Amino acid sequence: MLLALSLGSCYYDNKEDMYGTSGPCDTSNVSYTTHIKPLMDQQCVGCHGATAPSAGISLHDYASVLASVNSGRFIGSVRWDVGYSPMPKGGSKWTPCQIQQLLTWYHNGMPQ
Ligand code: HEC
Repeated sequence: MLLALSLGSCYYDNKEDMYGTSGPCDTSNVSYTTHIKPLMDQQCVGCHGATAPSAGISLHDYASVLASVNSGRFIGSVRWDVGYSPMPKGGSKWTPCQIQQLLTWYHNGMPQ
């Protein structure tokens, strides 16, 4: 009984995170231009711009983001996985929906 209750509350917490106030997480047609680039511009290029980027990692255009994801450090940093520097540095973690969209984009071959 207790277990069922705590699982239940966990389920609802997740559902709230996933759905927020703007409805279910939409992972259809995830692309660099519509989903990834706006986040890079708002949260990342201030430090990871084209010139003298932090950690030598530039995220200012499609090719540079692709290179960073392919280096194997990008997704772990955005997910705040153990062993990675959490990004955006000094900022808030991406929402579960944003992370889900990133993973979908990655698994779809990172369409531009
Ligand atoms: C305030 C500056 C700043 C912002 C904003 C920032 N970064 Fe970073 N980033 C750094 C610094 C500095 C490092 C070097 C590692 C460290 O000091 O934590 C780094 C390292 C990284 C790394 C390598 C991490 C590792 O563990 O190998 C990745 C990938 C990365 N950043 C991606 C991003 C992404 C994606 C965003 C936006 C969501 C972002 N960064 C926002 C400053 C920043």
